[in-house]
Amino acid sequence: MMQLLQESTSYIQSKSEGFVPEFGIILGTGLGALVNEVEVYHTLSYADIPNFPVSTVESHSGKLILGLLAGKRVVVMQGRFHYYEGYTMEQLVFPVRVMKLLGVKKLFVSNAAGGLNPRFNTSDLMVITDHINLLPGNPLIGKNIDELGPRFPDMSEVYDEDMIREAMVIAEDADFDLSEGVYASAPGPMLETKAEYRYLSIIGADAVGMSTVPEVIAARHMGMPVFAISVITDMCTPDRIKKVVLADILEAAAIAEPRLTMLIRELVKRS
Ligand code: HPA
Repeated sequence: MMQLLQESTSYIQSKSEGFVPEFGIILGTGLGALVNEVEVYHTLSYADIPNFPVSTVESHSGKLILGLLAGKRVVVMQGRFHYYEGYTMEQLVFPVRVMKLLGVKKLFVSNAAGGLNPRFNTSDLMVITDHINLLPGNPLIGKNIDELGPRFPDMSEVYDEDMIREAMVIAEDADFDLSEGVYASAPGPMLETKAEYRYLSIIGADAVGMSTVPEVIAARHMGMPVFAISVITDMCTPDRIKKVVLADILEAAAIAEPRLTMLIRELVKRS
């Protein structure tokens, strides 16, 4: 595994004149606009990077972008990988591990999620304060890669509390509501049943989505501080649940995108 990771890292370094990113950013479904704020130095297709998985979802474009955001060196994954696409957990987190080898010190993650907390509304932003992993596995199963991190990583503070606090300040200054909550990761690709939404709510989730948790586990294993945020794209409480199609999710994400973009840009700037 280390050899595969190093091969990919070397390739990226060779194509980017040795660019050393300080921050890693993973953009979720319908949330690619942050890239417009990046002064792009290099764009690499996932398909050209040795050992990289290739994105199969149309709404995810599959590019690694290296450049400056708010004057800081960033590497951005435009398009991410999901468990439901058939990847192994190791494949899912491969890019996050490569980010670490490239020099990334902090990880920022966004996703689209269903809202379970009745106080939420469609297109709200929810800072993730904790998670519940409901995927049938995790990326640390198997022989531990000691070069990356410990066998039994601590999970008592997965999401960096300083960055969460800073995000709340940024939102307050910009005068928009920012919620906090627990994200549950479900396998997908089907959305959940009414009974499943009820169950998720009972076990303590405020939002549910199909990504993020594997990448975050891999990042924490490597000791990387993480900031993660959900855009609530559909409400899943019993009184507000309705049939959802991808177009609705993308529309709700688009409404939230300017706020999300501003928030991540400001956080990166202050990091
Ligand atoms: N469930 C799971 N994933 C999602 C949802 C949902 O309701 N909405 C957006 N992503």
